[in-house]
Amino acid sequence: MNYRHAYHAGNFADVIKHVALSRILEYLKQKDRAFRVVDTHAGIGLYDLSSEEAQKTGEWREGIGRLIGASVPQEAAVLLAPYLDAVRDANPSGKLTRYPGSPAIARHLLRKQDRLSAIELHPEDAGRLARHFAGDFQTRVIELDGWLALGAHLPPKEKRGLVLVDPPFEKDGEFGRLLEGLVGAHRRWPGGIYALWYPIKDRRAVNDFRSGLAASGIAKILDLRFEIRRPSPEPRLDGTGLIVVNPPFTFESEMQVVLPVLHRLLAEMPAARWSIEWLTGERTGATATGA
Ligand SMILES: C[S@@+](CC[C@H](N)C(=O)[O-])C[C@H]1O[C@@H](n2cnc3c(N)ncnc32)[C@H](O)[C@@H]1O
Repeated sequence: MNYRHAYHAGNFADVIKHVALSRILEYLKQKDRAFRVVDTHAGIGLYDLSSEEAQKTGEWREGIGRLIGASVPQEAAVLLAPYLDAVRDANPSGKLTRYPGSPAIARHLLRKQDRLSAIELHPEDAGRLARHFAGDFQTRVIELDGWLALGAHLPPKEKRGLVLVDPPFEKDGEFGRLLEGLVGAHRRWPGGIYALWYPIKDRRAVNDFRSGLAASGIAKILDLRFEIRRPSPEPRLDGTGLIVVNPPFTFESEMQVVLPVLHRLLAEMPAARWSIEWLTGERTGATATGA
């Protein structure tokens, strides 16, 4: 396991993924009943943007760095507020020096009745995550293979909530594991919301993954794609994808508001595209796109 998220924390892919995460949690909060977030590849929780790793790539500057002080239209600003509040909460001095990862953002948005299971396999990262959440009885940090957690920890006893699967894609076969993991998890817990991150880098692998999802027999799969540049000749993270299974009914329209705004801020090439597409369900093929 060589992947270190510290090099990438706060980049455009994190922004899109974490905005989506925040919108799903805000929806779940509309009912009093408790929910659980299961984050199967949680990382360390909080990233120091002045670290050697973050400074080396500078990726956060083209992600959260562009969004944090930007002025955005009111409708989008309201939808982005819970996510940006979580980022500001991690930076009490007012200066952007730290970026909260998915478990920190989720935790910021929980109410007192809600729970978070944060799973991380890398022993050092799991240790840092456990220290980050030390004494927090609403959060359980578990050092475990996230793929196993998809079996062992589902369904959660709350029977409501979100499973975020955000693997590092450092090994071959990750798209296959993602599809297989989702099918198994969905069999155990068909009513859960699932958010699965994937890179837009190897386009053939993305197409095969989308075809596999369309043929999976799982209803209600939404595919959100956000590309910052036209396909590069060499393998490069040109875009970020997120599969959302059982999305809240508000999710698609909210993303239609925020994605064009984020695209204007984060895309390297204006001709690159974003899209929201139903892969399965009653509205299969319905697509919103923009450039
Ligand atoms: C992309 S990062 C996660 C970022 C985090 N979800 C966020 O949004 O802030 C992927 C993480 O998965 C961890 N990891 C790799 N293989 C894993 C596995 N099989 N189970 C759980 N965690 C794993 C890596 O150590 C890394 O911290």
